[in-house]
Amino acid sequence: MDETREIRRIAINTGGGDAPGLNAVIRAIVLSAVNRGWEVVGIEHGYGGLLPDDTGEVIPLGGDAVRGITHRGGTILGTTNRSNPFAWPARLPDGTIEERDRSGEIIESARRHGIDALIAIGGDGSLHIALKLFERGLPVVGVPKTIDNDLHGTSLTFGFLTAVETATDAIGKLHSTAESHRRVMVVEMMGRHAGWIALYSGLAGTADVILIPEIPYQIEKVCDKIRQRDAAGRDFSIVCVAEGAMPVDGAAMLKTVHGGTGDQTRLGGLGDLVAREISSRTGKETRSIVLGHLQRGGAPISYDRVMSLRFGAAAVRCVARGEFGTMVGLDPPTVKAIPLAEALANHKSVPVDGDIVATARDLGVSFGD
Ligand code: F6P
Repeated sequence: MDETREIRRIAINTGGGDAPGLNAVIRAIVLSAVNRGWEVVGIEHGYGGLLPDDTGEVIPLGGDAVRGITHRGGTILGTTNRSNPFAWPARLPDGTIEERDRSGEIIESARRHGIDALIAIGGDGSLHIALKLFERGLPVVGVPKTIDNDLHGTSLTFGFLTAVETATDAIGKLHSTAESHRRVMVVEMMGRHAGWIALYSGLAGTADVILIPEIPYQIEKVCDKIRQRDAAGRDFSIVCVAEGAMPVDGAAMLKTVHGGTGDQTRLGGLGDLVAREISSRTGKETRSIVLGHLQRGGAPISYDRVMSLRFGAAAVRCVARGEFGTMVGLDPPTVKAIPLAEALANHKSVPVDGDIVATARDLGVSFGD
C-alpha cells in the first residue's frame, strides 16, 4: 500500500437525496480508517453539523457506531439538499429566504475540528459542492450516490439496482390489476436527466411502453402501441414513464414541493398527463401511479451493499494515497478513482443506440418515437 500522507482524522458526510447503500459506504469508510489507526467523525445533515447555528453536529464514528448498518436504508448521518455552503439558505425577519456563501466558515470549522480529509458521499449537486470546497483547499474524495445512476465516471451508482428492484416489483403487481380491469396503468418513476430506472425496470417487468428523457416521445405513437395490443387481444398495457421524459414538442413537467425554507420545484406529474392523454385518445380506462420516494427507501440489495462497501474502502485508500479532488467509481471489473472535475463534466445518459434500448425494441417495447 502506497500510503504517503499523514492522516489522523477524517470526516464523512452524506448530501442530497438518500439512496440505499449509504450506510454500507459509511461502515466501510469507518472500519477501513479505524484499521489504519485514524479517527473518523461524521458531519450530520450535509454540512449543517459544521455550523454552530444549524441543526446537527460533528459526531465521533468508531466501530461501534457502524455495527449492523450495512443492510439499513437511509443514512445514519442524515442528509439534506438544502446545505450548499456556497448558497446557504437563511430566513430573514420578514420571512423571505436569502442565500449566503458560508463556504469559508465551513472550511474553517473543518480545520478547527482537526479534519485532515473529507469523504463526501453525494450525487451530482453534492459532488459539485465537494469539488468547489476542494478548489478552496479542503482535501476531498467523493463517492458517487444516486438512484438515478446518471453520474458519469462510474458505470453504476449504488442504490440504483435497489430502486430498479422496487420498481420492477411494483410493475409486477400492476400487471395483474391492469389485466383484470383491461386498463392501461401508467407508472411514473424517478429519473431527472436519465431514464435508467424506467428502462431497467420496464424491461425486467415487461412494460409495453417506456418513456425516458433521452428519447422524446409522441403520444400518438404511444397510443398506437396500445391499440396494436388491443387488436391482438392484449387489452391491457403497462407504460413506464421517467419523471424527466418529454414529448417531442414539449417540456418536462414540474410540480411544487414544500421545503422547510420555502417552496421548491421538482419534476413530477408526467405519469398523470400521459394517462389522461391515452384515455382521451384511445377511449381506454387508465390509472396512473407515482412510485416517488419508495424507490429511495428500504434495504439495499446485496449487489448494492457490496458496491457500497467497495466504494467506501476505495475512498479511504484514496485518502491514504493523498489522491484528493477525486471520485471513486466502478470501472468493471475494478473500482478506480478519477478527477472529480472529469466525473462531473457530463451526465451519464442512457445510450439511445446502445444494446439495452435495442433489446427493448427487439422485444416490441415502444419508446413512443
Ligand atoms: O436524484 C434522485 C432523485 O431521486 C430524483 O430522481 C428526484 O427528482 C429527486 O431526487 C427528488 O428529490 P427530493 O424530493 O428528495 O428533493
